[in-house]
Amino acid sequence: MVELLITNATLPDGRTGMDIACVGGTIKAVEPGINVTAGEVIDAAGRLVAPPLVDCHFHMDATLSLGLPRLNESGTLLEGIALWGELKPLLTQEAVIERAMRYCDLAVSQGLLAIRTHVDVCDDRLLAVEALLEVKRRIAPYIDLQLVAFPQDGYLRSPTAAANLERALDMGVDIVGGIPHFERTMADGAESVRRLCEIAEKRGLMVDLHCDESDDPLSRHIETLVYETQRLGLGGRVAGSHLTSMHSMDNYYVSKLLPLMAEAGVAAIANPLINIVLQGRHDTYPKRRGQTRIPEMRKHGIIAAFGQDCVMDPWYSLGTADMLDVAHMGLHVGQMTSREAMRFCFEAVTTNPAEIMGLDGYGIAPGRNADLVLFQAADAIEAVRLRARRLAVVRRGKVIARSEPATSTLTLEGRPAKVDPASYAPHAAG
Ligand code: FE2
Repeated sequence: MVELLITNATLPDGRTGMDIACVGGTIKAVEPGINVTAGEVIDAAGRLVAPPLVDCHFHMDATLSLGLPRLNESGTLLEGIALWGELKPLLTQEAVIERAMRYCDLAVSQGLLAIRTHVDVCDDRLLAVEALLEVKRRIAPYIDLQLVAFPQDGYLRSPTAAANLERALDMGVDIVGGIPHFERTMADGAESVRRLCEIAEKRGLMVDLHCDESDDPLSRHIETLVYETQRLGLGGRVAGSHLTSMHSMDNYYVSKLLPLMAEAGVAAIANPLINIVLQGRHDTYPKRRGQTRIPEMRKHGIIAAFGQDCVMDPWYSLGTADMLDVAHMGLHVGQMTSREAMRFCFEAVTTNPAEIMGLDGYGIAPGRNADLVLFQAADAIEAVRLRARRLAVVRRGKVIARSEPATSTLTLEGRPAKVDPASYAPHAAG
């Protein structure tokens, strides 16, 4: 019995007129002209149907805490970390769960069904770890949630971080995190990378470090991360998040670094919304953008994704759980305006983060999970341009969120009465 049949869909790879049949929570067939009786039929009317949006870099323990206990006046990363330090002792498990669950509702409504969140392990109570493990259990029917043990105050710099990180992993946190650029010295940063990679190797886990999140052209923890990945055979399981220092590095040095990243199998996660507001804060003019070198990474075959990082927390006052906002910003900051590069920006919030997270059953093909999103857009580029409305969100063959197409009604004499932003289709092909 086909539970759900989506007809006349355009897929992210450009195929049009496709029908998608879902049985038992799985995609049974993807082809034109499927003629079956289904529990529910959705006519995509030629619009884009894609696998769910994926956010591979987020902080769910801090989300929606904006203003608690005060606002970030300078707007810098370091004041954000200090502010979070003020809030941590005031956190309760119930409040963290409540905010996280509210965020997850928002995420579902946006078609965001897989999230990798860092969770701070520098509070000895590990209250946020317990809270997010509970959220992971509760939200599992709707969202694939991965947790990263993140020593926000420094793995070596914070006296209890090392023990707490091991405890968090013992409790079921999935991934090893770190923040080498926040350690006391460059040498300590490198040492933290070495130890964290060894923990991952010993436990058989993935690694995702906040790495070189500064404007310092000499911050080179990515080099150490690449080296340790190679040394310990962790290729394909390691991501460097932010990598903003690479924006400011010497070009010759980067020409050596990128092939090493590709060879080691280290992925990159930029966080465009956060990078563009946090980086360059100590510059006068010109102000650096700070986003890492995504186009150059692509040329070297490095897997690259865009993450959201923050929504309404000590570091960022805005955000709506919309990964198309993230892709839109990443496209602009990275000047990725060719048709091919714009399509990549959609992949950077769908298939690429799914690959980094190692999500099983992701994608639109027979045998994969029936997790799908119908956009009010003609194709992937239009989805990014419009930050298109999500008309239907499907999880395991069931519609879990719906909305009506957005149109405006005008009252201008002799002009069209309705405007649908998605009707302004591009003339360019390809
Ligand atoms: Fe982060």
